[in-house]
Amino acid sequence: MRVVVLTGAGISAESGVPTFRDADGLWEGHRVEDVATPEAFDHQPSVVHRFYDARRAALLAVQPNPAHHALARLEAALGDDLLVVTQNIDDLHERGGSTRVLHMHGELRSALCRGCGGRSPWDHELADLPPCPRCGVTELRPDVVWFGEVPYEMERIQQTLDRTDLFVSVGTSGAVYPAAGFVQYAGRRGARTLELNLMPSEGTHLFDEARHGPASELVPAWVDEVLG
Ligand code: APR
Repeated sequence: MRVVVLTGAGISAESGVPTFRDADGLWEGHRVEDVATPEAFDHQPSVVHRFYDARRAALLAVQPNPAHHALARLEAALGDDLLVVTQNIDDLHERGGSTRVLHMHGELRSALCRGCGGRSPWDHELADLPPCPRCGVTELRPDVVWFGEVPYEMERIQQTLDRTDLFVSVGTSGAVYPAAGFVQYAGRRGARTLELNLMPSEGTHLFDEARHGPASELVPAWVDEVLG
């Protein structure tokens, strides 16, 4: 069985990483257009850098939860037949043991150079405008996909969805495209579709089945079911 699992902020919520659209979510304290658009970065780079620097630093204090670990367990059994596509920019899937993970919205622990286009592993601040380790130019930006930009790996994601038997969405509100459209795309190509989310997402009616509750409980239970 070939499986694609799409994850969103909800899978990391119980690790202590704030989601975007829930009460106390990240977008509650910030206007999206002030920190998550290329225009914001052009106008106020230091505000944008401080926002992502704080989130990168906060990663040190959080740990993967049973939902991340369960997906790693599933990967150990399915190998290449499982792909995790995450909208999250944290590294909790990797720290939970997953290796086949696509970060379609980029990664906090990476910096993107606007000079040479190179992506470099990054664990420090960017607000103090360090030079690019590759080309030396001081044009580094957070390696995250902002509103109005094209997500990473879309071709590979689409090709994998084309031949998946089961599409599972975990902890995402279904508010942001293209990820919100994956359920219909996979469903039209014959995949069974399952939602695992705390609350019904915006697209919950598009799934063949939806289960609601905390990811730390739903995901391990579903993985146990798959592994029989
Ligand atoms: N277990 C399962 N689901 C949860 C939990 C939990 N413990 N806590 C919250 N959720 C659910 C919420 O009910 C909500 O539906 O996770 C979802 C989080 O939704 P969003 O905050 O909108 O996050 P996400 O869907 O990942 O956002 C998509 O929006 O701003 C952008 O680039 C950002 O990647 C992000 C994208």
